[in-house]
Formats: sequence, C-alpha cells, structure tokens
Amino acid sequence: MKHFLDIHQLSKPEITTLIQRALHFKNNPVYPSYPQFPVVNLFYENSTRTRVSFELAAKHLAMPVVNLDLQSSSESKGEIIQDTIKTLAAMGIKLFVIRHTQTGLPTMLAETCGDGIHIVNAGDGTRAHPSQAMLDLMTIMEKKPHLARLKIAIVGDIRHSRVANSLQLICAKLGVGELVLVAPKRWQPTSVHYGSVTSSLHEGLLDADVVICLRVQRERLSTSEHLDLESYRRDYALTPQTLAHAKKDAILMHPGPINRGVEIDDDVADGPQSCILQQVKNGVFMRMAILESLIS
Ligand code: CP
Repeated sequence: MKHFLDIHQLSKPEITTLIQRALHFKNNPVYPSYPQFPVVNLFYENSTRTRVSFELAAKHLAMPVVNLDLQSSSESKGEIIQDTIKTLAAMGIKLFVIRHTQTGLPTMLAETCGDGIHIVNAGDGTRAHPSQAMLDLMTIMEKKPHLARLKIAIVGDIRHSRVANSLQLICAKLGVGELVLVAPKRWQPTSVHYGSVTSSLHEGLLDADVVICLRVQRERLSTSEHLDLESYRRDYALTPQTLAHAKKDAILMHPGPINRGVEIDDDVADGPQSCILQQVKNGVFMRMAILESLIS
C-alpha cells in the first residue's frame, strides 16, 4: 500500500490484515523499529485523538516525528501545501499524515506529490476518515466478532460526517449484517454507500448490537442551516432511556470529541456499555499498523 487515503482502496483481506496487525501490537508490546522513516503531522484542522495517536504510533515504531506548527510555517507567507510537502520530502520525510477541511485534498496530494512519499488521510472535509473507521471496526470485532449477524446503528449528522461515510464503506466491505443510519431529515445523507436510513431513533436502535453516536458538528453547518439543539436533543440524544431500545448487551461508541449533554448523556458516555475509551486506545495500535503497512 503506497498511500492510505480511503476505505474504497482497501480489499477485505487488507482490512482484516490491518486489524489483525493492530491486535498483535495491542497484545505484544515489543514493537519493530523503523527509524529511517520520519513522519510529519500536518493538521490544518483541530484534533486531539487522531494527531496524538498518529504521533504515539510513530514513536512506538521508533519513527522520528515532526509536528509542523502551521501557524508559524511558511504557508503563512504564501507557500502552497504541495511546496511544503516537497520541501519536507527533500529533508527525508517519508510519511505525511494530513488532516484538512478540503474534501479530496489528501488524494490530490498523493497524485501530485506522491513520488517517494506516503500520504495518510487523517480526515478530509466531510468525505472520509478511514483510520477512524478501521479502529472502530477493530473495537467492534473485539467485542462482537460475528459481523454478519450484527445490527449497527449510526446516529446523528450523517450528511456532514466523514466518519459515517467511512463506516458505511467498511461495513459494506466486511459484510456487516445490518447498518441503519439514523438522522433527522435535514442531516440524512444525499447518497448512501451502505445500509438503510430512518428518521426514527426508536426504529434505528431497536435490537441494535452496536450504537455509534456522532458529534453534532456545529463547524460544518452552513450559516443558513438552523440548528435547534433542544429539538435535536429531545429526538436523537443517546440517553439511558433511548439506549434501552438496543440489545441489553449492546456496545456504545462515539468517535469523539463528545458533546456531553448534546448528542450524548454522561450516564451513557461513562456507562458500562461505553467503549469510547477503548476506541481511543485501539486508535494507537491501528495507526501503528497503518504506518507500518505503508513502508513494508
Ligand atoms: N475522532 C477524531 O477524529 O477525533 P479528533 O478530532 O480529536 O482527532
């Protein structure tokens, strides 16, 4: 694999190999060493989980890491991102982990600057967040390995969610039995990659094995989109009452960051069914597997 851009590019065996490798790293904390492969984190959008877990993943593999401070980089003087990448590549950097608000930018960079370097998509606009989908499926498979028998519900702003896009693609590739996308009409997807859509939280959660709650992404709503948080909370928040529609042993996930008291209640986020911190933990191992696969 030269670049890690999208779930589309991965075959089912490639996905399962990455998950197995991540589980191996989790269970065997003596890691290989790749000091000849420096990594740079280029985060044009805020991040806690993804940026830090890519950094930790690289450090676990003895890869030197540079976190470029974009506020003080030469892009503030007009340098374009392609020249930033070529400049860093000339210094010997091989792996570029990029998060950007611009949909499709990592793919464009892989096509235009890709010789001798590897681009990792750490989230582009509303399109894709493939490493999140990988760590989410890793977490689900640890708890509920029989994917063909599962009902998974994703609840929230599906339309603006790169996480929901990548999750639909990975659920399709791995043959998840049933995927339901739950959203109010205005946040339903314009095109569906996999699964069915409902505006009924009760219908979506009924007998679900896995419930994935999405963040209300205020920053992605256009100024014309009226956001009535009270009515969203009333109809779609994950509370102990609404989660009770799912199976008793259902697991609750959220990609983070969470908005407590908006899309999810404290009792659910911190409750016994929550796997949110397990997702975060798995993110480091999954990103180790991704970085290693690019240089192998
Ligand atoms: N899930 C996720 O992408 O979180 P961060 O924005 O903190 O990286």
